[in-house]
Amino acid sequence: MNTDFRPVDYSRMTITELMIPAYANFSGKIHGGILLSLMDKVAYACATKHSGKYCVTVSVDGVDFLQPVEVGEMISLMASVNHVGKSSMVIGIKVIAENFQSGTVKHTNTSFFTMVAKDDTGKPCAVPGLLLQSREEVRRFLEAIKRKELKLRYAQELDNTKTDLEVESNLYLLEKENCKLEVKL
Ligand SMILES: CC(C)(COP(=O)(O)OP(=O)(O)OC[C@H]1O[C@@H](n2cnc3c(N)ncnc32)[C@H](O)[C@@H]1OP(=O)(O)O)[C@@H](O)C(=O)NCCC(=O)NCCS
Repeated sequence: MNTDFRPVDYSRMTITELMIPAYANFSGKIHGGILLSLMDKVAYACATKHSGKYCVTVSVDGVDFLQPVEVGEMISLMASVNHVGKSSMVIGIKVIAENFQSGTVKHTNTSFFTMVAKDDTGKPCAVPGLLLQSREEVRRFLEAIKRKELKLRYAQELDNTKTDLEVESNLYLLEKENCKLEVKL
């Protein structure tokens, strides 16, 4: 039985970075890839701190950029361990963008990175458990379990859909889509 547990606060992490013009796309907004890269960094730092091991990114959930980020805004990425399995850790990351001139703060997204700890031979290895010290931490842990179940169900349904997908009987779905058939079926 595992006797090694670490509190969420032990590995809580924030990265703050000013959005400079070099990070912008052609329309002057910040590239989504820049934000993803920063999220990956903070997830790595948080998972490595919790586990004390080298960690890799396995899966990314819930990356929806709801509002654009502008040049000149200060981005803060706040990460904490939400769930721990045997070798995996789900890191919840909340991203906010602050505009110092207008005084506005916007929540751009909340995403979940699954990281896995590896040993010196590159194999997944056991990580300390999570010490849950508040109702919110318990809620997040439970939410991660539910998310994992839903993901599994979704993956199975998607697999079935792919296997069972019959083109001819589903052509009606294309009627309202933005496409034109240029093939004889
Ligand atoms: C992730 C990886 C370690 C899994 O290896 P594996 O031999 O299949 O190991 P396991 O099946 O024991 O899985 C290890 C853990 O990863 C989790 N995992 C595997 N695939 C997953 C997925 N798609 N989503 C979420 N978790 C996943 C498992 O649930 C398991 O968690 P647990 O130990 O807490 O129960 C392996 O696929 C890998 O190294 N991938 C490349 C990761 C990488 O290089 N990322 C950088 C981006 S390029």
